[in-house]
Amino acid sequence: MKKILPFHLIIGIVLILVSCQTKKENATRSTTNTNQNIEAKIDSILPRLTLEEKVDLCHAQSKFSTKGVARLGIPEIWMSDGPHGVRAEISWDSWDYAGWTNDSITAFPALTCLAATFNPDLAGDYGFNLGEEARYRKKDVLLGPGVNIYRTPFNGRNFEYLGEDPFLASTLVVPYIKGVQKNGVAACVKHFALNNQEHWRDVVNVEVSDRALHEIYLPAFKAAVQKGNSWAIMGAYNKFRGQYTTHHKLLTNKILKSEWGFDGVVISDWSSTHSTLEAANNGLDIEMGTGTDGLGTTTENHYQHYYLANPFLEKLKSGEISEAVLNDKVRRVLRLRFRTNMKANRPLGSLNTPEHHEVARKVATEGIVLLKNDDNFFPIEDKAGLTIAVIGENATRSMTAGGGSSELKPQFEISPLEGIKARFKNAKVLHTMGYETGVSEYDVVHPPTLNQDSLKTEAIKLAKSADVVLFVGGLNKSHLQDSEGDDRQQYGLPFGQEALINDISNVNENLGFILLTGNAVAMPWLDRVKGLMESWYLGSMAGHAIADVVSGDVNPSGKLPFSFPKALEDNGAHAFGETSYPGVDMTQHYKEDILVGYRWHDTKNIAPLYAFGFGLSYTAFELENIASDKENYTKNAHIKIKCDVSNTGNLAGAEVVQVYVGKKDSKVDRALKELKGFTKVTLDKGEQKSVTIEVPVEALAFYNEEKSDWEIETGDYQIYVGNASNNISETLKITVK
Ligand code: BGC
Repeated sequence: MKKILPFHLIIGIVLILVSCQTKKENATRSTTNTNQNIEAKIDSILPRLTLEEKVDLCHAQSKFSTKGVARLGIPEIWMSDGPHGVRAEISWDSWDYAGWTNDSITAFPALTCLAATFNPDLAGDYGFNLGEEARYRKKDVLLGPGVNIYRTPFNGRNFEYLGEDPFLASTLVVPYIKGVQKNGVAACVKHFALNNQEHWRDVVNVEVSDRALHEIYLPAFKAAVQKGNSWAIMGAYNKFRGQYTTHHKLLTNKILKSEWGFDGVVISDWSSTHSTLEAANNGLDIEMGTGTDGLGTTTENHYQHYYLANPFLEKLKSGEISEAVLNDKVRRVLRLRFRTNMKANRPLGSLNTPEHHEVARKVATEGIVLLKNDDNFFPIEDKAGLTIAVIGENATRSMTAGGGSSELKPQFEISPLEGIKARFKNAKVLHTMGYETGVSEYDVVHPPTLNQDSLKTEAIKLAKSADVVLFVGGLNKSHLQDSEGDDRQQYGLPFGQEALINDISNVNENLGFILLTGNAVAMPWLDRVKGLMESWYLGSMAGHAIADVVSGDVNPSGKLPFSFPKALEDNGAHAFGETSYPGVDMTQHYKEDILVGYRWHDTKNIAPLYAFGFGLSYTAFELENIASDKENYTKNAHIKIKCDVSNTGNLAGAEVVQVYVGKKDSKVDRALKELKGFTKVTLDKGEQKSVTIEVPVEALAFYNEEKSDWEIETGDYQIYVGNASNNISETLKITVK
C-alpha cells in the first residue's frame, strides 16, 4: 500500500526547501553584489590613476612588496613565503633576514605530510590557521600552496607539494586555499606550470604532450582557480615548448585567464620574468624578484628597471603596447586589494596560538605513514626497565631550517628526540648521532666537525646496550637533499646511513626506522628493520607527533601520496634516461607521458617497493559489500560507490577507502587505473560504517588532443575499490551509455 504523507508535513518540507533555496540564492546574490561593488569601485579608480602610477602597481618596490598609491589611499601589497608557515621577515633589498624579533611563527608540516592525511577537512584547518598567522604578520599574499606534481624522487622541492596524483592534489588544495583566504589573505598557488625539477629550473625547456599537460600537470591548478577561487597564482622558472612559463601565451593567457576564467593576479616567481613584451602581452600582472640585469642581482634603484617598470612605461607611451593591456593588470591588482587589504571587516589574525599548534600536531600525526610493522614493533610501550636508543642526526636536527624559500623560523620546534623523551617518562631514552652532516646554508654545506668513525663506534655501542633502537634518519633540508635550487643526486640514503643501519642491526635486531624525508628513497636495508615510519618534515610539533604515533596514543592513518619505486629506473620519468630527466641541452621530454607515479607502476606491471595510497594501521580493516548504485550511466550522471568498512582489530583507527577507475578497451592509451575518489573513515574497534563515494562520469574523460577538448568515451569501465593503489578489494564493471 502506498504511504501518503500528512498535509502539514508536506507543507513543512516545501517551506524548508524554499527557505534553503532562498538562502542559497541570497548567498549567491550577495557574492554577486560584492563583486559588482568591487568592479564599480575599480571603474571609478582607474581613470584617476596616472600612467606612471598604474605601471608602478605592476612590479616590486622591495624583495616582497609592491607600491601603493598613497595619494588615493591605496595600500602597498605585502607578500611572504610560503606553503608551510609564514617566513621570517626578509630585508627590503636583499635576501638577508631582517633580524626582527617578533616574526617567529608556527611551522606547519610540509605539504607531503598534508597530502598523506588524505583528509580535506584537515587541509581546510591547515589553510585557515596558517592564514591567521599570515594575517597577523600583516601579509596580503601567502606564496603557497605548491601543487607541482611529483614526477621524480630526485626533485629537491617535492616536500613542498601535494604528491603524484592530480585528483589527490586537487582535492586537498581547494580547502587549503579557502581556509587561507577566509582571513583576507590571498593564497598564491605555485609554480604554474611544469616546474617538476629544480635542476636547471631557470632554463630547462619542458616538452610534454597536451594530454599529460591537461590530465596530470594542470588539474590541481585548475581546481585551485575554479573551485578554490585562488586570488593569485605564481608563474614558474622553466620554459614550456620554448617559452618561459611566467609569461606564456598558451598557459597564462589562453588556458588560465581565458578558458579557466581566472580573475586574480599572476605573480612572477622571483626573477622568472624575461621580457617586457611577453610579460605585458602574455598575462603577467606583477613582476617580482628581478634585478636590473634580469638575473636577480641587486643594483641601485633596480625596481625601476624591471621589465614591467620603465621599459613597460616606454612601450606604453610609444603605443607599442596598448593601455588596455595595462588596465587589465591594474584591474586585477586592485581586485586583489579589495579582497585583502582594502576589504572591510578583515579579521586580525593571530600567531602561535594553542589552536595553531594543535592543528600542526593533528596534521603531523595523521600524515605519518606506517610502512612496516613486523612483530608489532610499534607501538612501543613506555615501561620502567626499557632502554630505548635513539640514533641518528635527524633526531635532533632542525628540519624547519634550510630547504630554500620555505625555510621557517618557528617559535619552537620539538625535535623527535625531545618528543620521545617527553612521552617516554618510565623508559630510559638515550641518544647518539651515529653520523653528522654539517651545517647547511641555502646552497652551501659546511663539512661536519665531528669524527664520523667515533660517532659510528658510539652508536653501535649504544645500540648493543639497548632493548629497542629507533633510528631517526633520512634526508635533510641541505642543498642537494630536500631543498630548493637543485635536485638530489642519489636515490639511496646519504651520509653513510645505509652501512650504519646494517651495522646497528648486526648488534640489535629490535630496530625501527623513523624516516624523515620529502621524497622516496631506496631501501636496501628494509629487511634489517622491523618497523618503518615515513615521518616527513613535521614542523613545530614534529617530536610530539612522532611520539604520539610511536607510543600508540595515535593510531597511524596516513597513506603515501607518491610511490616508492624499488630502484630509480622503476620510476617512469627515469625509465627513459637523460632525455626525460634531467634533459639534454636544457630540454627535456616527459617520455612517460600520462603514466606518472603509480600509473606507470600499474600499467607497466613494475611493482613498487611501497605503493601510492599504502599505509598500515595498528588495527585492521575490511572493505565489504562494495557495489555501484547502477550498472549503466549517462554522461552527466554521478556514479555512487557504496562500501561497508569494518574495524576488525582491537583499537580505534581510520581507514582511507580509495576508488580508482580504468578503461581497458579505450581508444587511447590509458593508465590501468586512476584515483577518482576517496574518503577517510574513523571507526571504533568492532565498528562498521557504510560509506558512499561519488564519482561524476565527467571525471572519466580523457583529453582529446585532436579536438583540444575533454571527451567522455562510452562503453565499459572498471572501478577498483581498495585501501591502496596495489590493494584492491573489489573490481566492479559499469557502463557509460
Ligand atoms: C621560489 C618561490 C618563492 C620565491 C620567493 C623563489 O625562488 O621558487 O617558491 O615563493 O622564491 O621567496
